[in-house]
Amino acid sequence: MHPCMLFLLCLAALPLASHSSSNPDVALLLAKVKPALQGERANAQLATWNASTPLCLWRGLRWATPDGRPLRCDAAATRANLSLASDPALLLLSVRLPASALAGRLPPDLGAFSALDSVYLAANSLSGPVPLELGNAPALSALDLAGNRLSGDLPASIWNLCDRATELRLHGNALTGAVPEPAGPNTTCDRLRVLDLGANRFSGAFPAFVTAFRGLQRLDLGANRLEGPIPEALAGMAATQQLQALNVSYNNFSGQLPPSFAASRFTADSFVGNEPALCGPPLRQCVTASGLSSRGVAGMVIGIMAGAVVLASVSIGWAQGRWRRSGRIPEQDEMLESADDAQDASSEGRLVVFEGGEHLTLEEVLNATGQVVDKASYCTVYKAKLASGGSSIELRLLREGSCKDAASCAPVVRRIGRARHENLVPLRAFYQGRRGEKLLVYDYFPRSRTLQELLHGGSEPAAGRPALTWGRRHKIALGAARALAYLHAGQGEAHGNVRSSIVVVDDLFVPRLAEYAVDRLLVPAAAEAVLAAAKADGYKAPELHSMKKCSARTDVYAFGILLLELLMGRKPSASAGGAARAMDLPSVVKVAVLEETALEEVLDAEVVKGLRVSPAEEGLVQALKLAMGCCAPVPAARPSMAEVVRQLEESRPKNVHPRSALYSPTESRSDAGTPTTA
Ligand SMILES: *[C@@H]1O[C@H](CO)[C@@H](O)[C@H](O)[C@H]1NC(C)=O
Ligand SMILES: *[C@@H]1O[C@H](CO)[C@@H](O)[C@H](O)[C@H]1NC(C)=O
Ligand SMILES: *[C@@H]1O[C@H](CO)[C@@H](O)[C@H](O)[C@H]1NC(C)=O
Ligand SMILES: *[C@@H]1O[C@H](CO)[C@@H](O)[C@H](O)[C@H]1NC(C)=O
Ligand SMILES: *[C@@H]1O[C@H](CO)[C@@H](O)[C@H](O)[C@H]1NC(C)=O
Repeated sequence: MHPCMLFLLCLAALPLASHSSSNPDVALLLAKVKPALQGERANAQLATWNASTPLCLWRGLRWATPDGRPLRCDAAATRANLSLASDPALLLLSVRLPASALAGRLPPDLGAFSALDSVYLAANSLSGPVPLELGNAPALSALDLAGNRLSGDLPASIWNLCDRATELRLHGNALTGAVPEPAGPNTTCDRLRVLDLGANRFSGAFPAFVTAFRGLQRLDLGANRLEGPIPEALAGMAATQQLQALNVSYNNFSGQLPPSFAASRFTADSFVGNEPALCGPPLRQCVTASGLSSRGVAGMVIGIMAGAVVLASVSIGWAQGRWRRSGRIPEQDEMLESADDAQDASSEGRLVVFEGGEHLTLEEVLNATGQVVDKASYCTVYKAKLASGGSSIELRLLREGSCKDAASCAPVVRRIGRARHENLVPLRAFYQGRRGEKLLVYDYFPRSRTLQELLHGGSEPAAGRPALTWGRRHKIALGAARALAYLHAGQGEAHGNVRSSIVVVDDLFVPRLAEYAVDRLLVPAAAEAVLAAAKADGYKAPELHSMKKCSARTDVYAFGILLLELLMGRKPSASAGGAARAMDLPSVVKVAVLEETALEEVLDAEVVKGLRVSPAEEGLVQALKLAMGCCAPVPAARPSMAEVVRQLEESRPKNVHPRSALYSPTESRSDAGTPTTA
């Protein structure tokens, strides 16, 4: 195959005209920016910024031609052109070196590039102040400095960027002092969508001026040392639905939350860590000196209603006991609604069954003989054999304290229980014990058939592992994509933990996704542990380090990683290849593109071996492009899962007949729900 194949990932060539002279942006970059970012130690990425390397191969930089269009580096002649660096017409467009071990400081000169549009330097070890001059950057629209060691006061000049800026991310630094006021009185920062100042050491009052930022969608001020009241105007922003994510947790705010928060989309998660000084829904009711609720009448009405719920749940528990004795389990949607753990009168707790779980009874589930097959941060997984019929089920016992209370779990469990798709492992029942134990009952699939095991399990195909040809991998990818598209569209729900270990694959290579939406059942700490594992294993979308809620977009990212894993046969975890090549899969592909690596070297040997025509004809290039698109660092740039499904359907492998028994992604299996017998 032609080694240029991978350049299909890049854009088409664009010739450049110019004469030799020096380029002011290049000169500034070499004289000031490189030494400042680098600090004491030489840096591998920054070392590429040198005169003996063609400009196109300088890491982390993008350039623009004078007409404002990006310089295209895909033509071999352009990539090898050593005189580009002295073309005076080129302008620096962006600096993207996240997680690149930069240990220096932010150079004030970043403010001096006339066309610099974005600076992404998150997850480095940059220290020192945010320079005042950065606010002078005339074209800067995206600034991400999260996860460094920046300290000192944030200069007020940062708001000068407001005319253009769409995102300002400074999460996880050591910035101190008050959040500075903009110099202009009516600064509305119309384009700013994301302002993330969380996990710093900001003090003083709530920066009330941000409530005038008309386009703000995500505001994170969490984990600082801010104090005083939360302004009414913030609740106003929340009420207009403009604000989609808010975090003022873990500060020292006080007083009563503006009442309109009670009806907003924001839960206590947005405000925790300020109690008891901060109160009112969605936090606890404020308590006045006399000990009565500050809104006494409403409080009493709520109290009376709560009593009614308790009574209803007692009688349902009693009725459930009778039904069970008579051997019949009723439709129980409404029971979950009133489930109230402590008040349950039935001695064994309650079992709620969903479609396909009608045959399960409480005795059977609790008396099934089980063995531990897996342990996750939030649960223990058992394979359990039912006494009657001998079929096996999978039980997930949620760890004590990892789970939200019954009332907030109920609607989530109901949604999980309703989800039915041929590519999902169905939830058959949910058990809620008297002491709050919670058990999820799924169909059982052997661990040896997870995609992770099939891809990285180590055993040779000869030793019983089926060969994973591209046709089979494509079928697995398409099935997984369809399941996610179903969850996103029908259920309006993110999966939340897409990874190869939750994809089980049957003998016909039909994949099924397990564990969907489970993060919605967990308390924040337990959900974060799941995220931490996703990060360690390489599936965590970059935006999740500041906003901790999984979404359809973060699913798409994780799916992109899964697709790369299928294509490359490599574990996605950054550390899997040894510390020397600690890179995530998208970076590996990007480096391969830059280094003109042949496509065959990027793909899994087993995939290449099975090919009869060129990788492009097999849809492999399209699949690789699609995976990279899914892994776009900017969430909005990722395709939807519906689009992913469409593209995968279009780029089916050609060398397998569409109706072949081995490869027919559209086949629907009527027995999809039958538990595997063991
Ligand atoms: C210039 O960059 C190349 C890589 O592009 C590197 O191998 C070389 O060491 C660099 N030279 C200097 C002087 O840093
Ligand atoms: C290399 O770049 C210079 C400056 O932009 C340009 O004048 C020249 O034509 C380019 N050479 C090639 C072979 O593309
Ligand atoms: C700022 O806004 C207020 C109220 O919206 C208005 O009265 C005032 O004139 C504005 N000031 C400037 C300088 O635009
Ligand atoms: C929070 O405010 C209270 C009362 O003003 C004060 O005593 C306490 O030290 C503050 N805590 C922090 C972490 O600043
Ligand atoms: C807010 O931020 C804190 C600390 O960074 C975090 O623990 C919490 O989960 C966040 N809450 C939300 C709703 O994102």
